[in-house]
Amino acid sequence: MSPLYVLLGDGQDAFCLDCLDLGFNKKSIHEGIVLVPTVEESNMADHWIENHKRDSWRKQAKASGYRARSAFKLKQIQERFGLVRQGDTILDVGCFPGGWSQVAVELVGPEGHVIGVDLEPCQPVEGAVLLTGDITDPYTQERVLEELGGDLINVIVSDISPDITGKWDMDQSVAMTLVADVFDFSLPLLKKGGAFTTKLFQGVGVQELIDAVKPHFSTVRRYSPDASRNSSSEVYLVCRNHMPWNSPKQSIRERYEEAVDVLVGGNEIEEGPEPTKTSFTVRRRKNE
Ligand SMILES: C[S@@+](CC[C@H](N)C(=O)[O-])C[C@H]1O[C@@H](n2cnc3c(N)ncnc32)[C@H](O)[C@@H]1O
Repeated sequence: MSPLYVLLGDGQDAFCLDCLDLGFNKKSIHEGIVLVPTVEESNMADHWIENHKRDSWRKQAKASGYRARSAFKLKQIQERFGLVRQGDTILDVGCFPGGWSQVAVELVGPEGHVIGVDLEPCQPVEGAVLLTGDITDPYTQERVLEELGGDLINVIVSDISPDITGKWDMDQSVAMTLVADVFDFSLPLLKKGGAFTTKLFQGVGVQELIDAVKPHFSTVRRYSPDASRNSSSEVYLVCRNHMPWNSPKQSIRERYEEAVDVLVGGNEIEEGPEPTKTSFTVRRRKNE
């Protein structure tokens, strides 16, 4: 079979599915042989590119001492939006194994304060306090408050994702509700003008959650960093300039769930079946 090449970007670079050589210039060693891929081959190519990117971020993470390639997602969010400043207090929700906390410590510097929380115990990250517990559990929340010692937070970063069962609709819906709970717990702790970034999984309710969050911030944007492994399912919400005075009375979770109920028609009361007319009549026996 002749080698298959897939053109990338501006058409100058290509990769060869035979030798898996990414990024060579098609005018060099494989000059002149460019085949148009079939849909199947094209999907294969997309999958290959996705894996290649993931491996590349993993290698970079290893080389730079980060515990997880997800560290680059936070770095890219920071490069794009400049959320964190030296001396800030940061809450890192869903911090295991600690990649985002490592980046957060670098960003806030020696005067800053980083508190991480995860269900999984983390290896220590120098300069951060990493708590083990469920962020929705009042006991864990109390420990976060103790750690803050009355201070407010400048930036909340959340990469939280619940355990995956494999049933996409259910997993996505659980993840969205968890994010709403994280907002409800941590927004009262966020300073005026502060920022909040969180991972979301694309699907039902994303726009409804954005709508529920919007009154709290002057800008709310969706952003997909290049380092996102699966850009089709994962997106980050970047909320800036917290406006505590504008908070609606109802919680974000309540407003989110109400909106999703309307969307999927879940709040309609099901009516029972119409009684059917029958031609049968009941007659009494004469001797009764
Ligand atoms: C993708 S990982 C985070 C990776 C991290 N940002 C890093 O760079 O190392 C998502 C984490 O969310 C955590 N998580 C899920 N539900 C949680 C909950 N209710 N409370 C705290 N952490 C939770 C999981 O244990 C998991 O470690």
